[in-house]
Amino acid sequence: MERPGFSVNAELLKRFDKPGPRYTSYPTAPVFSTSYTRKRFEIDLIRNNHGSTHPLSIYLHIPFCDTLCYFCGCTTVITNNRSNIERYLSALQKEIALTGSYIRKGRPVTQLHWGGGTPSYLEPSQIRVLNRFIASQFSFADDAEISVEIDPRGLTFDHLRAFRDGGVNRVSMGVQDFDERVQNAVHRFQPADLTYQAIEWSRKLGIDSINVDLIYGLPLQTPKTFKKTLDEIVRLSPERIAAFNFAYVPWMKPHQKLIHAEDLPSAEMKIELLRVTIETLAEAGYEYIGMDHFAKPTDELAIAQREKTLYRNFQGYSTKAGADLFGFGMSSISHFENVYAQNEKTVETYLAAIEQGEFPVDVGYRMNRDDEIRKYVILRLMCDLEITKEEIEDRFHIDFDEYFDDSLDQLREFVSEGLVRHTIEKIQVIGAGRLLLRNIAMCFDAYLPAMKGATPIFSRTV
Ligand SMILES: C[S@@+](CC[C@H](N)C(=O)[O-])C[C@H]1O[C@@H](n2cnc3c(N)ncnc32)[C@H](O)[C@@H]1O
Ligand code: SF4
Repeated sequence: MERPGFSVNAELLKRFDKPGPRYTSYPTAPVFSTSYTRKRFEIDLIRNNHGSTHPLSIYLHIPFCDTLCYFCGCTTVITNNRSNIERYLSALQKEIALTGSYIRKGRPVTQLHWGGGTPSYLEPSQIRVLNRFIASQFSFADDAEISVEIDPRGLTFDHLRAFRDGGVNRVSMGVQDFDERVQNAVHRFQPADLTYQAIEWSRKLGIDSINVDLIYGLPLQTPKTFKKTLDEIVRLSPERIAAFNFAYVPWMKPHQKLIHAEDLPSAEMKIELLRVTIETLAEAGYEYIGMDHFAKPTDELAIAQREKTLYRNFQGYSTKAGADLFGFGMSSISHFENVYAQNEKTVETYLAAIEQGEFPVDVGYRMNRDDEIRKYVILRLMCDLEITKEEIEDRFHIDFDEYFDDSLDQLREFVSEGLVRHTIEKIQVIGAGRLLLRNIAMCFDAYLPAMKGATPIFSRTV
């Protein structure tokens, strides 16, 4: 029986609970600015295409959903107006064609992710049209990972078949919590049968890498009710489970105010929910990868973590390191070499840019050398749970202890609590430090001090 190898110490976790980034990028999105222009993006794209031999990772953002889940932190558009969707899909194709015209045809796509919102909200015929269009613009590696986020509500076998025919070999489905009272409190009504069916259909179609999303920290959850959800998910045996820490950010997502604040679990209760999650999943044989993600030991994520080839990008953990990322659709982020570029964040502004024949870039950032060094350190800590100073010194020609003097000062607190081991050679995350990866990474973030005291930006770390 797999054991988590650490215990969840409530007092300790509570002490470290503060707002912090999830580090799907470094620098984080609040650093991106409008001084990065569409023209700059075009120049960077041309430079990338001349210089880069990296394969491609593609992200498609399908923002639409049928109804609003009150907890939702994603970039969504709640609509049942099908003509809006057609207009968006045609803009998406224009954007892919525009960017695609700058990219050498020989560069293989090793990863394609359909994210949302809810990609399965499209009609199967729309999925097929988009699939064919993408296939006409890019060449795919034989072992490309093609994944889609689906919502079991409203899903049909035909939707899944359309995705599978387009090469989808991984699905990720939103469940959140099976408990009816919790579902009512967050306005997400999802009878368990729909989830069973989505899993059964996926397996029947040969899509045998399944991820299930859960959220802990939702209103009315108790360790007892959430344990029932976890046991039920374990019985369904998905390859991966994401048990997300509820990001409660009502200042950024005002609809979260629809959740009755008095129904939210207390800080103590939330830590209990985390404890029950880790213990249940570990007992069932899942490995804790880090940052809310669990995987079976035979899953690629767990193997990549053991082999230290794991990577982290905007979609979370991944095994496809070293690809240049191109994001299409509203709010999508592209990241290649030292460039981050994020698209317009509303449908209206996105459509307006595309319909004028422009790149729909809204904000962006070009990393400097210090960013590159810190990005690498944070990435390796999040993926490998350790860094070897010599490796970083050789890679970036720095003296680690000198360069990170301030960071090492901040790390002392973690070391004295037994959350980090700091030796002459290495920095290792140990024990319950795994639950505080965000906090540990924050020690290496050069931008946080300047963000302190500004309007709240990030969700809480615990
Ligand atoms: C794009 S949705 C998944 C697909 C589909 N829209 C659905 O909900 O079934 C991505 C996932 O993000 C997670 N999520 C959304 N809002 C969140 C929040 N505020 N805090 C933590 N996780 C959240 C949910 O687990 C959700 O399944
Ligand atoms: S959780 Fe999924 S279905 Fe619910 S509003 Fe967010 S993106 Fe849409």
